[in-house]
Amino acid sequence: MLSIVVLISGGGSNLRALLEATADGAFPARIVAVGADTEAPGLDHAEQFGVPSFTVFPSGFPNRGDWGDELLAQIQQWSPDLVVCAGFMRILPPRVVAALSPNLINTHPALLPLFPGAHAVRDALAAGARETGVTVHIVDEGVDTGPTLVQRTVPVLPGDTEHVLQERIKTIERDLLVQTVLDIATGRTDLAAIHQSNRSATTP
Ligand code: GAR
Repeated sequence: MLSIVVLISGGGSNLRALLEATADGAFPARIVAVGADTEAPGLDHAEQFGVPSFTVFPSGFPNRGDWGDELLAQIQQWSPDLVVCAGFMRILPPRVVAALSPNLINTHPALLPLFPGAHAVRDALAAGARETGVTVHIVDEGVDTGPTLVQRTVPVLPGDTEHVLQERIKTIERDLLVQTVLDIATGRTDLAAIHQSNRSATTP
């Protein structure tokens, strides 16, 4: 049984999809805790499913590194097999990435390497993209640069606002994230092997 900590910053609809999927006894993964860097509304989903949560606010720390160390300590209390960033809007400090890699994944609302960063949907619209999508990837030290696990394309339609396009993306994203976690739990997706082959490909 794969144990998971999910990190969120916002409404947590991806978290909710994971909570619903993993509530099924036949699903080979469990969410053991949910962490946030804000008073995220999505923490209510954890409460509804009886899953413990924790918050680590950056404002309580003198620097990013110290904040990250506390976040890592909170995560490691749960000894998770996997950490999922699902709408976690803060860059994890290098020590956190190093400690959790490669069992640290992120879902991003664009077809990376296009439109990395915090405003991927807005940026795709501003660029006049005809299509965008979702990427689930292993987190590395960069901003949305880690090895891709899976991508899905989503059309941009005439008249789309940021909100409308974001919701269209999220409809696909929730299913893709659940499927990716299932693939990791069943061994169909091997994070260590993907991480290693990516390192070999990028190391001279
Ligand atoms: C998701 O679309 C996720 O990909 C995005 O935030 C949304 C959170 O939605 N993450 C990023 O943009 C990270 N760069 P949710 O709170 O409803 O799950």
